[in-house]
Amino acid sequence: MDVVDARTAASHRSQGERWDEARALEIITEIKALDGATLPILHALQEAFGYVPEEAVALVAAQLNLSRADVYGVISFYHDFRRHPAGRHVVKLCGAEACQSMGGAELASCAERKLGIRMGETTADGRVTLEPVYCLGLCAVAPSAMVDGKLVGRLDETSVETLLAGLEA
Ligand code: FES
Repeated sequence: MDVVDARTAASHRSQGERWDEARALEIITEIKALDGATLPILHALQEAFGYVPEEAVALVAAQLNLSRADVYGVISFYHDFRRHPAGRHVVKLCGAEACQSMGGAELASCAERKLGIRMGETTADGRVTLEPVYCLGLCAVAPSAMVDGKLVGRLDETSVETLLAGLEA
């Protein structure tokens, strides 16, 4: 597992395809025969589009013979799913125990102040989405984060501020 420093992490961008129903149907069709297909399908859709659009919920429900409420239930149960497009950069700060014991809550507050948003929100200019995550497997270098898919450890308020300031517009 690669862990990069805060400055390197700031040079990457979050990505996702534009919503495309035919592409979504292709993804669903590939996976729907699996047992318990709902979760892997939702992950694959989010991986492709960067979030799970409203249209995708209807499509998944229809393809799996579920109600929309069933699909919404799965989405709302897991912290990982996003209902709206993410910003151009996604910063996930670890909120699990080891990181919390090393000042994770203070870092989250620092990031919220710096960006002017709360956890789970995206800046008005679409630059950054701030999200919680629950253990990145980097407890030994807590507090940790994932920035546009890159892992970052040993954060402090200064490095979080540097990291956020370094994310391209
Ligand atoms: S608790 Fe944060 S990485 Fe494990």
